[in-house]
Amino acid sequence: MKLETHQLSIQYDNQIILKDVDFELESKQFALLVGPSGCGKSTLMMALAGLYPKYGGVLSSAVTLDGLAVHSIKANQRAPQIAILFQHPEQQFAMDNVRDEMIFALENLSLAAEEIDKRIDQALQSVGIASLQHRQLSQLSGGELQKVALAETLALGAEIILLDEPFAAVDPIHRRELQLVLKKLVDEGHGILVSDHDKSNYDTLITHLYHMENQQLERVADAAWGDFLSQRSNRIV
Ligand SMILES: Nc1ncnc2c1ncn2[C@@H]1O[C@H](COP(=O)(O)OP(=O)(O)OP(=O)(O)O)[C@@H](O)[C@H]1O
Ligand SMILES: [Mg+2]
Repeated sequence: MKLETHQLSIQYDNQIILKDVDFELESKQFALLVGPSGCGKSTLMMALAGLYPKYGGVLSSAVTLDGLAVHSIKANQRAPQIAILFQHPEQQFAMDNVRDEMIFALENLSLAAEEIDKRIDQALQSVGIASLQHRQLSQLSGGELQKVALAETLALGAEIILLDEPFAAVDPIHRRELQLVLKKLVDEGHGILVSDHDKSNYDTLITHLYHMENQQLERVADAAWGDFLSQRSNRIV
């Protein structure tokens, strides 16, 4: 599966945020997106997820998923292919406990009850949170909530997963655990794009590094990663 933009520009009202962006994300790729606050990372991710133009930004050309305009794919057909996770997943939850929340999310896919149970069990296991399945969402930590959101996404079947600053409310131990879960998912065939202000501990995990600034998206050459990812680097905020 391939998510792609070609010379994509995005604007809000009359303000251009991104210009002529070429981007590709395929299955088995793990891409990290970095850049200063306000440069347009969330804007690009919303567009990649097919949420624009419906929920805001105006695009100069369509984002495509295997050649089809992603915004035109119906939401219930899009969910099994591509998903976006935000910084505060609890804002998207509709139910009180973990398993009920996941059942609720899967009910739109018109699956048999046994298939729903099977998918939920597999997804909980894959993310390592089977023990949380009967917990109240309101009592979970930021890291645990992010794991529930990721498990829900997996259960829906999304092959391409976009995560917009998923670790902002997550402590360092959960952050590392989640980074390693993402790496495992990439090895299993998912394509993942994550934006993060904290660039640490990605160097051995990612396959692609992107830097956004001044309306441009640039792919950082592998040889320059050390400089970019090092905390001492002052090239990016
Ligand atoms: N819905 C919107 N309508 C108008 N302007 C917007 C909208 N969303 C974002 N912007 C503006 O677009 C620019 C890019 O915002 P965006 O949220 O994409 O940046 P970001 O790189 O994700 O920042 P951060 O690292 O702080 O999350 C900002 O100037 C922001 O104010
Ligand atoms: Mg953002």
